[in-house]
Amino acid sequence: MPVRERLPPWHERQRLPNGREVLIRPIRPEDAEPLRASFPLLQPEEVRQRFLHSMKALSEDMLERLTRVNPKTEFALVAAEPLPPGEALVGAVARVTMDPGEEQGEFAILVSHYVAGQGLGRYLMTRLVKWARGKKLKRLYGDVLEHNQPMLALAESLGFVRESMQDGLVRVVLELAPEQDSGTATAVDRGAIG
Ligand SMILES: CC(C)(COP(=O)(O)OP(=O)(O)OC[C@H]1O[C@@H](n2cnc3c(N)ncnc32)[C@H](O)[C@@H]1OP(=O)(O)O)[C@@H](O)C(=O)NCCC(=O)NCCS
Repeated sequence: MPVRERLPPWHERQRLPNGREVLIRPIRPEDAEPLRASFPLLQPEEVRQRFLHSMKALSEDMLERLTRVNPKTEFALVAAEPLPPGEALVGAVARVTMDPGEEQGEFAILVSHYVAGQGLGRYLMTRLVKWARGKKLKRLYGDVLEHNQPMLALAESLGFVRESMQDGLVRVVLELAPEQDSGTATAVDRGAIG
């Protein structure tokens, strides 16, 4: 009988359609250095779409905040090379931060162009939804630039609806209350990329 690899919670090995293997796992403080080193390789537009403004580099403060999550109020997954944290290049990061009232959470995601278009964005979003449901959040939302068609299409296909639009930003919202369950539950359980 084949021996199944035992991985800690929220850890999964996935093979992307292009054959590249990634380890999806919670972000670790050791990821700060690879994130700092690879940030200049991102396209300016990717950075703007994720952070909603232009940035040339990640400051120490920001790296610290992004990689040291408070497990009570935050959740962040990376898709990284299957190497020890600190050595592994990180191709994607997706996170939820709970609002102070702890009733809703804000998501943010960046799948770098090196691994984009292979189902990672969709898969990571379903993981964020699963975490948010586990925390009994009522809604998950994100602010997306109005011309960011890929993210708007992805959010819509997962059941998010456009709530408001201001200053070139669209807020997309997924209601998580059980009676308003959407197609997301199926996507969440799908468990495979592609
Ligand atoms: C938006 C983003 C997360 C998509 O990640 P991805 O891994 O490339 O997406 P996937 O391969 O999982 O595709 C999921 C869906 O996204 C949409 N999508 C992805 N690339 C697209 C493109 N070039 N044009 C239009 N839609 C696209 C599609 O709806 C796609 O669904 P499909 O597979 O059924 O066609 C990624 O492009 C990204 O990180 N962009 C920069 C940062 C950002 O925009 N963050 C969002 C604000 S926080």
